[in-house]
This record gives sequence, structure tokens and C-alpha cells, in this order.
Amino acid sequence: MVDVILGLQWGDEGKGKIVDFFAKDYDVVARFQGGPNAGHTLYVKDKKVVLHQIPSGVFHAGITNLIGNGVVLDPVTLKKECDIVTSFGVDLKKNLFIAERTHLILPTHRALDKAAELSKGNEKIGSTLKGIGPTYMDKTGRNGLRVGDLLDKDFKNLYKNLKAKHQQLLDNYNFEEDISVWEEEFFTTIEYLKELNIVNGEYFINSKIKAGKRILAEGAQGTMLDIDFGTFPFVTSSNTTTAGVCSGLGIAPQLIRDVIGITKAYCTRVGSGPFPTELEGATGEELRKLGNEFGATTGRPRRCGWIDLVALNFACMINGVTKIVMTKADVLDTFKELQVCTEYEINGIRTKEIPFQMERTRPVPQYKSFAGWSSPSSEVNSFSNLPDTMKEYINFINQYLGVQVHFISNGPGRDQIIEVK
Ligand code: GDP
Ligand code: IMO
Ligand code: MG
Repeated sequence: MVDVILGLQWGDEGKGKIVDFFAKDYDVVARFQGGPNAGHTLYVKDKKVVLHQIPSGVFHAGITNLIGNGVVLDPVTLKKECDIVTSFGVDLKKNLFIAERTHLILPTHRALDKAAELSKGNEKIGSTLKGIGPTYMDKTGRNGLRVGDLLDKDFKNLYKNLKAKHQQLLDNYNFEEDISVWEEEFFTTIEYLKELNIVNGEYFINSKIKAGKRILAEGAQGTMLDIDFGTFPFVTSSNTTTAGVCSGLGIAPQLIRDVIGITKAYCTRVGSGPFPTELEGATGEELRKLGNEFGATTGRPRRCGWIDLVALNFACMINGVTKIVMTKADVLDTFKELQVCTEYEINGIRTKEIPFQMERTRPVPQYKSFAGWSSPSSEVNSFSNLPDTMKEYINFINQYLGVQVHFISNGPGRDQIIEVK
């Protein structure tokens, strides 16, 4: 049995916190896509930790964590993360496993990411510059190197040959930065990676499933950043949606049970690209301040806006969402009035569907207003004690989406979460 937790918006919905919260009900937590572009924040013993590639179940004793084949892995970032995690007394030899088919982010991939973004000027994607796009390009272009290749005696040569191809591209971009320091770091840290548990991910996970173990697949990014269904080309390079779980871990679709979709009570986006409900004035600034909306990976200010039910409805459809968790409800505590986008207007026509592209069509969001709850919800710990106005807001969302909000997160802390009963 496999359950999935994934983001329904443009990432940073609070997946890390929610995976950490649910992890105790599972035996294995597995990442199936993305790489160090992700930044999943959790609190361990009141200390803030941001995980990029290690699954968010890692702080629970007895839970196995798998980095699946669909992930792109940067050994340098991984080593830094491992050092942080082990400083909490976690024994990664016991609970972290890496699929040998996982593609490696090489120093030249990071250089290519940077060169490609620079060449785009104002059209840039706003990539995290972690090498994600070029690594997935080498995967689908059938050039990439994988974790299993590290065990090849000839790995240095494999790298050299691929670097020669990359160098031609870098020359085309007139990219002249010296990446020898990145290369040095890379070759030092792969020695560390080789000592970790490298496994055949697909047999590893399927044997666990056969033995009746419960698996939680942890998504990175969000549905609107999906390479197929997101706001292309302002997306990431992987399938962030439920479909990615099967190809990213090697499991069959009928094994998937619940798909738990995470949404903020409002909406954010970091990086470029369409964001119909974005608020550029004082209200957006207020959301950013109250929600502390700055990227966990890059520190960039996140763009903020109202919740977008057109996009959420689309995300529920694409992912087959069975349950919703709404995070950051507390951030709206002081707003007198809230807006919920229920339709887009495109060329004078109202629609509840996401268009093929939003760059040229520029949907105008149509809103329904709600009274704010104007009370400190972060101190509440039962559903019955939540303000009625918050319940009305959530009921409307439940009805619109036809999927229920099962949990409301009302603060960043591990215990700040309320079951809807
Ligand atoms: P992820 O990438 O989906 O894991 O999300 P991030 O960690 O990038 O961003 C979510 C941010 O919101 C983190 O700083 C969390 O600590 C914080 N957070 C999560 N849930 C809540 C919540 O319910 N209320 C508040 N105020 N903060 C939250
Ligand atoms: P988590 O898992 C928010 C965004 C980048 C950029 C676009 C492409 O923490 O929710 P990439 O580095 O993948 O080439 O960037 O995607 N992006 C994210 N935004 N949260 C993330 O991850 C993101 N990962 C990538 O800002 O717009
Ligand atoms: Mg994040």
C-alpha cells in the first residue's frame, strides 16, 4: 500500500511539515522526483531543519527513507544534509537508502543551469540553479550518469566524456566561470556517497510492499510546476504529480491508495511565470510578512496571492486527490476580508478550467469574498474551537473541490495541526 503527499500549488505548501507529521503511520518514506531545488522545512526538537533531498521521515526512528530513481541527486548537497541530520543522532547507515538508477547532478549541470538562465535574460524561469533542468535533459537525452555508475572503476572517465559534451554547450553560451572548485567538492563527496546504502530501488520498495509495509511517497515542488501540466515553460523538469510516483519509484499504479494534497490557505509562487491571483500591493506584502514567505532553498521572497480554486480543482483532477491538508491557515488570522478565486475570465469569457497557457491569455481571476476570522487560530487545538468564519471558508473549498480538507495546519510547529471532525 502506497499513500502520496504532494503539493497542489507552486510548491512550498508545507509538505515537509506534513510528511513529518504523518510519517509515524508509515514504514517507508520515499522521494520520487525533484532534487535539491526542493526545500522542505521541519522542526526537530524545536530546531528548524530544511531538507532538500533526504525524505522528511528521516527523524523518526525505525522509518526507512528512500531516495527513488526519479530524483536527481547532488552528492555535495546530500553530504551537507547528511551532516545536519546525523548531528541529531540519526544513523543514516540504518535508515537512508538511495536507488542506483537515480541520476547524478554533476558540476557541469549546475554550470549549464546557470548559463541557460543567464542567456534567457528577462525570460528566465527563475530556476533554483541547482542543475535540475540539465540533469533531467541528460536523463531523457540518454546521456546522464547514475548513482550506480559511481561504483564503476571508470567513473572519472565517464565524467570526463560527458563533461566534454557539456563543455561544447557551455562554450556556446560563452560561459567562462571556473568550476574546478565544484568538481573538487564533487569528487570528494562521491566517496562519502559510495559508503551510503545504494540499492536497487524498485526491488527494495516492492519487497517492502509485499511484506505489508506502508509506504509514503513524498512529492517535491507542486502540481503547477509539473513538466506536463504546470505553467510551461515556467515549471520544473519532472512530473511532480501522482503519475511521477510510479515512474519515480518503480511501483504499479494500483498500489496507490490515498493521495493527500497540500495547499496553503492562500497561494505563493517563487520564480517567474503566471500567477493569476498574485497580489502585488500591500496585501501581498502583508501575506509575505505574516507567512514569512521567503524561499527555503534560495531565500528569495515568494510572490503571494489569494487561494485559486480553479488551479486547485485542476490539481485535484490530475492527481486524483482523496484528502486535502490546508496549511498556514493562521497566516490569515488578521485579515478582515478574504478572497477566493472561483473562475477565470479570459477574453471576456468565464471559465473554471486551466487554459493551455497563461502567458498570452492572462486570465483575470473572479473572486468570492469571505469575512476573515480575526482571531488567533494558532492557539486553537481542536476543530470545534476554530472560528465559524474559518469553517465557512473551508466548507466552501470542500464543496467547490468535491474533496474534503481533513487537516488544518495552524502554525509551523510539529503539533500545530488540527483534524477536521
Ligand atoms: P515545502 O517545500 O512544501 O515543504 O514547504 P517549505 O518548507 O518550503 O515552506 C513552508 C514554510 O511554512 C516553512 O517555513 C514551514 O515551517 C512553514 N509552515 C508550515 N506549515 C505552517 C503553518 O501551518 N503555519 C505557519 N505559519 N507556517 C507553516
Ligand atoms: P519545494 O519542494 C517552490 C521553482 C523555481 C523555478 C522553477 C524551476 O520546496 O516545494 P528548477 O530549480 O526546478 O529548475 O526551478 O521551479 N521551484 C520551486 N518553487 N518550491 C520548490 O520546491 C521548488 N522547486 C523549484 O523557483 O520557478
Ligand atoms: Mg519548499
